[in-house]
Amino acid sequence: MIGELRPAVVVVGASRGIGKAIAEVAAADGATVVLVARSAEGLAAAAADIQKTRGEALTLALDLVAQDAAKRLEDFLSANGLICDVLVNSAGYGLRGSATLLPVEEQIGIVDLNIRSLTDLTLRFLPGMVARGRGGVINLGSVASFTPGPYMALYYASKGFVRSFSEALHQELRRTGVTVTCVAPGPVSTEFLATSGANRAALFKVLPKLDASYVAERAWRGFKSGRRLVVPGISAKLTTLLASMMPSAVLLPLIGRLQRRSNDPCPCGSGKKFISCCGARRGARAG
Ligand SMILES: NC(=O)c1ccc[n+]([C@@H]2O[C@H](COP(=O)([O-])OP(=O)(O)OC[C@H]3O[C@@H](n4cnc5c(N)ncnc54)[C@H](OP(=O)(O)O)[C@@H]3O)[C@@H](O)[C@H]2O)c1
Repeated sequence: MIGELRPAVVVVGASRGIGKAIAEVAAADGATVVLVARSAEGLAAAAADIQKTRGEALTLALDLVAQDAAKRLEDFLSANGLICDVLVNSAGYGLRGSATLLPVEEQIGIVDLNIRSLTDLTLRFLPGMVARGRGGVINLGSVASFTPGPYMALYYASKGFVRSFSEALHQELRRTGVTVTCVAPGPVSTEFLATSGANRAALFKVLPKLDASYVAERAWRGFKSGRRLVVPGISAKLTTLLASMMPSAVLLPLIGRLQRRSNDPCPCGSGKKFISCCGARRGARAG
């Protein structure tokens, strides 16, 4: 108890995937968890799984992109006598394809969810945590945060923001008792891979996929031990090492080739396939 209020671990993006797995780990560690996502059905199933193991889980169906989302979450916590002790920002999505051809609104939606909502929630809940001298934030970044990513440009850029923001906050909050941890996994076996279209790209076919439960264990343990950055698994660590060693002139064309499919439409908007349009004209230099 903190005064009359009870601490909760608030997980946004908890109806499935990595968020659901982190909520399960936190509940198994004795936390009261608040699960947030749009799908009431998904949330109810996630809460039922936690309650089966005698954990306490509350649910709030909410579209985080709505302007009043953070306020509605704060009101929900107050109404239930809870404070946000730990915030887990796991809601996010990506899109594979050429930035000039993907729908603008769907790309801006990545900024709204992966950046604006994550920032809004983090900045709203952090001051309370600092005043109490405990708790913190787990932000889901990605190995994509270590490089620009042609043909998933918005997604990689959004994750670059998440890592930069989180690591800076970690430093600012040293010795306050509050931790901000960025978790940067490689591919994880969740719906994300299909919904983003990433699973159709060679890059995601060659990289090994981790289980969400493994990522969740690593994330929770890393956060509890005050880590700034958690890169779960050997293959993700190697990927980040390679990305840091390769010059951009080599790395960006490589990622572009591995994320573009040969039958993808050409970014120039001709309607032709890239390989028989700009790809053919630019020959080996095309990336
Ligand atoms: N899977 C990977 O390969 C991978 C790798 C590195 C990093 N990540 C990152 O890890 C995080 C979690 O990804 P995941 O793999 O668990 O994806 P996922 O299985 O697709 O889950 C995404 C979660 O976000 C929620 N969500 C999406 N849009 C929302 C909105 N507008 N408002 C509220 N909730 C919303 C979804 O629930 P509803 O649809 O019910 O709203 C769901 O609970 C993301 O930030 C992702 O970028 C994933």
